[in-house]
Amino acid sequence: MTDLVAIARSLFVSGKGLLAADESVHTATKRLASYGIDTSEEMRRQYRDLFLSMPHVEDYLSGVILFEETLKQKASDKKLFPNSLSARGIAPGIKVDGGTEPFPESSDEFITKGLLGLSDRLAVFKKQGAVFTKWRGVIKIEGDILPSSQAIHENMKRLANYAKEVQTAGMVPILEPEVLLQGNHSIIRAKAVLQETLGTLFSVLEEYSVDRAGVVLKTAMALTGSDSSKKDTPEEVAEATLEVLMETVPRQIAGIVFLSGGQDPDEATDNLAAITKRAKDVSAPWPLTFSYARALQKEALEVWKGKPENIEAARAVFLERLKKVSAAATL
Ligand code: G3H
Repeated sequence: MTDLVAIARSLFVSGKGLLAADESVHTATKRLASYGIDTSEEMRRQYRDLFLSMPHVEDYLSGVILFEETLKQKASDKKLFPNSLSARGIAPGIKVDGGTEPFPESSDEFITKGLLGLSDRLAVFKKQGAVFTKWRGVIKIEGDILPSSQAIHENMKRLANYAKEVQTAGMVPILEPEVLLQGNHSIIRAKAVLQETLGTLFSVLEEYSVDRAGVVLKTAMALTGSDSSKKDTPEEVAEATLEVLMETVPRQIAGIVFLSGGQDPDEATDNLAAITKRAKDVSAPWPLTFSYARALQKEALEVWKGKPENIEAARAVFLERLKKVSAAATL
């Protein structure tokens, strides 16, 4: 087994998953402000520390996706965050895409940037301790019109380029083609878009000769759009999601992690539990776990409010959610 494959597989340990703590400065600022929290660089450090320095977090996390600002900041044990995580057996990863820009060929769609200068940045991130990376592309559903096949194809091509560069640099790429939850679409439409997206991704990865055994897929679940009044049952979500994954995802990849995408924490937990069960029923060939940002952080942020006196209570709430999500990912 190559080092890359070993690192990729080490993210899939029974009962553990990933915390996505990779909000850009812009997104972290907006997120903290929405809870009435001040938004300096030091407050962003405290925000990361709230989660990453929680006692026993290593019992539930195999990896954490960081943003580059955090790589250079120190945890409360006085170690740089990547070193602090590694010392506790948690693999540090890094978001390497540069966010989205409008897609010139279809003005309502977005394409992810960040390939320019990527290999130089990867060398720096590796020195700073990152062992895996993440790149997110966004696929927007609007009725039967969007996404366009061109936007899907361009986003998947960039993901493949990214994956190739990351593997060459000796790190594991997490590929996140996020089919967005926002919209009024049915679960059937979400399923069709997820199918086209993942089908395109894996055929482009083959064209680019990306080593499939050394990649991790980060995907959305197939869900009715968040603007619709219809609520899916966890069983409906699990059935639709597994049907797409079984048809499109090669058995050789290291594993699949799910994003929460704006689902509330209970929904993201219950849907994951149903997916775990369904995956067993259909003998899915890859390990599955979580890689949540909002669904893991939301309740703790509501309690923390940026105040030192609330850290303990906020961590208790975070630990409780982490235990539930970890149980949902466990057979
Ligand atoms: O890119 C998005 C994050 O990695 C996952 O965030 O769970 O809030 O969708 P989320």
